[in-house]
Amino acid sequence: MDGNGRWAAARGLPRLEGHRRGAERLFEIIDACVDLGIGTLTVFAFSAENWKRPPAEVSGLFKLGEWLLRAHLARLDKRNVRLKVIGDVTSLPDFARTPLEEAIAASKDNTTLDLVVALNYGARQEAVEAARRIARDVASGALQTEQIDWRAFESRLDTAGLPDPDLIIRTSGEFRLSNFLLLQSAYAEIHIAPEYWPDFGKEQLEAALSDYRRRERRFGLTGAQVQGAPPSP
Ligand code: IPE
Ligand code: MG
Repeated sequence: MDGNGRWAAARGLPRLEGHRRGAERLFEIIDACVDLGIGTLTVFAFSAENWKRPPAEVSGLFKLGEWLLRAHLARLDKRNVRLKVIGDVTSLPDFARTPLEEAIAASKDNTTLDLVVALNYGARQEAVEAARRIARDVASGALQTEQIDWRAFESRLDTAGLPDPDLIIRTSGEFRLSNFLLLQSAYAEIHIAPEYWPDFGKEQLEAALSDYRRRERRFGLTGAQVQGAPPSP
């Protein structure tokens, strides 16, 4: 959800106002995903690197997150949304972590949309943690070295049990993944939206989806193979 700060700066507003407007957009996009029948929406809310921002912005973001959760929990539940988190939430401030954990527990049986919030998340940190889990399991005898394959690795990532992303949308016109789901996005289609996140609404989501529909996903095969044509001699 990139571009909140620039959206605000372009209007002479404080950065936190950009985050507030961006958060409003998120709930519009969640509703649109439910309406469109999308099963999983993962949003990058706070990266492991975002701690380096000015302390007032960091604490403002967590206060905003806590407030949003309280304000929108009933709406999420009504729409049958299941909340999940990826990233290391243990280092979040208690006032933000506690309601988050409560919301995750309360929504665990919802089935329409998995809303996955990446909080204090970084793909490299996630991979390191998965390697540690594997090492511990090998040390305890629960896993043999020869049994380590992608499936074993994947099941120890924060995203265990979630599908790989089909489409990654990067807003604000930036062409980079910035430590987001690096392993899971091996075959993801990437859409770069020029809008800052507070300007990214349902119309922009639909444009991203129609871009996605035009892609031919080959997963290493030839075009003829995926189109079901007979193999050439
Ligand atoms: C939101 O946009 C991302 C968050 C960390 C919440 P930014 O805060 O990165 O906005 P820009 O990139 O400064 O415009
Ligand atoms: Mg940014």
